[in-house]
Amino acid sequence: MSILAGVLGFPVRHSKSPLLHNYWIEKYSVNAYYVPLEVSRLDFPEVINTLPKMGFRGANVTIPHKESALEYCHGVSDRSALIGATNTLKFSSDGAIFADNTDGYGFAQNIKHCVPSWKASAGPALVIGAGGASRAIIHALLEEGAMEVMLVNRTKDRAEFLRKEFGAKVVVYDWIELDSILSEALTIINATSRGMRGYPDLELKVENLRRDAIVNDLVYTPIHTKFLRDAAKRGCRAVDGLGMLMHQAAAAFEIWFGILPEVDGELRRNLLRK
Ligand code: ATR
Repeated sequence: MSILAGVLGFPVRHSKSPLLHNYWIEKYSVNAYYVPLEVSRLDFPEVINTLPKMGFRGANVTIPHKESALEYCHGVSDRSALIGATNTLKFSSDGAIFADNTDGYGFAQNIKHCVPSWKASAGPALVIGAGGASRAIIHALLEEGAMEVMLVNRTKDRAEFLRKEFGAKVVVYDWIELDSILSEALTIINATSRGMRGYPDLELKVENLRRDAIVNDLVYTPIHTKFLRDAAKRGCRAVDGLGMLMHQAAAAFEIWFGILPEVDGELRRNLLRK
């Protein structure tokens, strides 16, 4: 019988996870199906407890269930607990649910893939945004050896909250200080919704960027955000948001199927075509 896996979200129709996982299922000849599962908040507890009994090996979790899913799990990985959210569930045959989070791994793996010489310890990182994505990024940066993570968010309280959770290596600045601290950062990550279709662009004083800075936008709709275009014009290395998406999925695929799939150019082209 085929193994089942899927993505739980609401809405889930825009998720790229089915395309990613089914590409690898075919490429590696895994006997499995990966399906989108649109599940409301109300139905989530019932569904999550039923999936293991229906032949599901695991599931990805997306908005709005990433945080609340932790309540229903029997085990939680350290990184998932630290990030305070899960994006990957693994089910065992006795019905136990284990929560993990591959978002931070996906972020770090993508930068290393694009810039093999990158070292988080080489200089301060600047994270813009203090939502769910930002938590995973901060965790990954600290794991990778960052000595300082500068954090800026429109709502400063949310950034202060993350500093309390992650400790003194995280230093919070005001939103209006953003342009003036750009020159100190070697790795800069946009983890806000700015630049996404329907949102205003992230407009920074790019002449303040170090030319050797690596700039990563987590936004991938559109793929070439204004922030990335401006940074590239300045001479910085611009890393787009599709890579993190592909690498977090690769880690989830390995958790379920025991194969770490290759993040290849054809997959990227497929995602861009969709
Ligand atoms: P995600 O899971 O993608 O991180 P989220 O938790 O909703 O999503 O976080 C969205 C982030 O984008 C937050 O940092 C948010 O800032 P606030 O905490 O002030 O809301 C940021 N954001 C959204 N719209 C923004 C805007 N127009 N300008 C600046 N920041 C914005």
